Order: sequence, then structure tokens, then C-alpha cells
Amino acid sequence: MSVGVGIVGYGAQFSMGKHHSDSVKATEGLELAGIYDIEPERRTAAREEQGVAVFDSYEGLVAELSIGLVVLVTPHDTHAPLSIQASRAGKHVMTEKAMCLNTKEADSMIAAAKEAGKTLTVYQNRRWDGDFLTVKMVLESGAVGRVFQVESSVNGWWYPAGWRGIRACGGGMLYDWGAHLVDQIVQLILPAMPKIVFAVSHAGAHDVDIETQSTVTVLFDNGVSAEIDVGCMSHIARPRWLIRGDKAAFHMPDWKHATLKDQGGEVQIGVEEDRWADLYKNLSRHLNYGEELAVKPEQSRTVMAVIDAAFASAETGKSVAIGND
Ligand SMILES: NC(=O)c1ccc[n+]([C@@H]2O[C@H](COP(=O)([O-])OP(=O)(O)OC[C@H]3O[C@@H](n4cnc5c(N)ncnc54)[C@H](O)[C@@H]3O)[C@@H](O)[C@H]2O)c1
Repeated sequence: MSVGVGIVGYGAQFSMGKHHSDSVKATEGLELAGIYDIEPERRTAAREEQGVAVFDSYEGLVAELSIGLVVLVTPHDTHAPLSIQASRAGKHVMTEKAMCLNTKEADSMIAAAKEAGKTLTVYQNRRWDGDFLTVKMVLESGAVGRVFQVESSVNGWWYPAGWRGIRACGGGMLYDWGAHLVDQIVQLILPAMPKIVFAVSHAGAHDVDIETQSTVTVLFDNGVSAEIDVGCMSHIARPRWLIRGDKAAFHMPDWKHATLKDQGGEVQIGVEEDRWADLYKNLSRHLNYGEELAVKPEQSRTVMAVIDAAFASAETGKSVAIGND
């Protein structure tokens, strides 16, 4: 028996609705059962490209009995209300990152899923990016020794189009790339948890009402510090990764090249391939056979707590302590 999947949002910006539809089709134990988008032309595209039932309303999709899992591929401000509605209709939910806009919304989503006895997860697919898998492999090998500082950055020059440039829709660097980079760092430093956040944000370069550059320092409760730098107004990018430990330093200037340097010299490290399909495989095995869920909603809630604290810090110019309740 397969779990029927309904995709919500068949957007054009990065073809993410198509990506999710194709991923579902490629995953054993899942079956693409329907698609809904609020825009009629995107519904037409979904009908033509996917050849499955396309719904005219969200209510119609969540009422469909053959759909057991709803996947949200919509702007960030819609994730919480759509997720809660789907949970209350008795569906499992996977939402795209960012999970939602803040921890208050995250708590409501988690409570609704718990009440329904259904799964809630977040598409933190960048835990399976080749560069991140390489970082994990190198750290787990012990070659870097005790890590004391991590820098992770995605920046460049691009225009945040459509809802991505509108703050009320959940646009902005912290929600966009920030949600991935914070999640990766939290996964790297576990079981230690984020304790104090200090952030500086800038706006400019593009005609939008979001922060177009944010630099966030996170101090973990084991003393490790991390700096996350995301922005779309930088003509020269920072390195993708710089990790310093008491034995060696690890450096990735971009997504494809990696170097480890210690007292003995420098070696090039082969970069892993992306393995995004593993996330859907895990979700399918979780729903069909009870395998442990790889991306737990509480983990993405921690990401939202760091983002909440980063916004507060950037506004006040003060560091913000976060509780790990
Ligand atoms: N994980 C990744 O690597 C990755 C990459 C790109 C985008 N994303 C995420 O995917 C999500 C969507 O981003 P996108 O780039 O596809 O945006 P997009 O603008 O291309 O598509 C969003 C779609 O949602 C539809 N929509 C808006 N409100 C809706 C509603 N209430 N109900 C139904 N449909 C609605 C829009 O009509 C549009 O077609 C975001 O959460 C974004 O962060 C993730």
C-alpha cells in the first residue's frame, strides 16, 4: 500500500512543485495523488506536466480520502495555517522550509499534528547536500579535532523576486537560505544546543522590504561558536565553509572544492554527491513502516528559535538568549 501525496504550490520560480512531484513519483511507498495551486495557470501547468488530479481548492485537496500526506511548497507565511488545516483534516504534513515565521507558529503546528496523531516534518533537504555531507564526514573522522568555530555562508548578488522580496510573506535572507544554514549547523553541533544569538542585518541594493544581508553569530552551550552569513547584495562571496578545530581547519571556498589543513600540510578532500532523495525515502519508510523520522518538527522549531532571536538581536543591537524548552 502506498501513501497518497497531495502537493500544494506548483510554483515556477525554482520549479519546486515539479521537483516535489517528481520526487514523490520516484519514491517507493508514496504515490502522487493530487496537486493544488492558488493560481489557475499553475494548476494548468501541473495538469499538463504531472497528469494527476488537480484540485480547484485547498479544502478539496485536504478532503480527498486517497491523500494521506500533504506537502506544502508555498510562500513561508502560508505554511502554518495550511499545515494546521491539513493536520486537522487528518493528514500527515511535510512543509518546505522555512517551517513557518516564528516559534509561536511552530508550536501551533506541532500541537495540531500531535492532536491529530499525524506526522509533521520539514523539507530540510540541504542536510543531504554534497558539501554538507562532506563536512559531516570530515568532522566525524576526527581529522579536525575538537571544533571550536564554524562559518557557513551563502551569499552573492541576486534579486529576491515575488513574495521572496516581501517581508509580510516571509521573504528575507534569514527565512530563505538562513533556514537551511541554521538547520545544518544545529545538526553539526548536536547534542549541544544554541544558547546566545547576535545578529546584524542590512537592507539595500534591491527594491524590496526585506533584510538583504544577515550575519548571525550563534554561541552553543558547549562553547562552540558559529557564524552564518546570508545575503543577496554581495559581489564577492565568503567561503561556503570554514571550520576550525584544535587539530586542523577545513575550508570550502565554494560548493565543489574542499581542503583540510593541519601542521603536516594541506590535502584536497573529494566532495560528496547530493542525496536529496534520502529525505523522501526516510519519510516513506517512516509513514509505511515506522522508521525514525529524520527531520523532526522540534528540530525545525529550534531553527525558528534561532531566527526569532536573530531578528530580535538585529533590531535591538543586543545579544539574545534562547531557551531550549
Ligand atoms: N528546499 C529547497 O532547496 C528550496 C528551494 C526553493 C524553494 N524552496 C521553498 O519552497 C517554497 C516555495 O518556494 P518557490 O520557490 O517554489 O516559490 P514560487 O513562488 O515559485 O511558488 C509558490 C507557489 O505557491 C502558490 N501559492 C501561494 N499561496 C498559495 C496558497 N495559499 N495555496 C496554494 N498555493 C499557493 C503560488 O501560486 C506559487 O505557484 C518556499 O518555502 C521556499 O523556501 C525550497
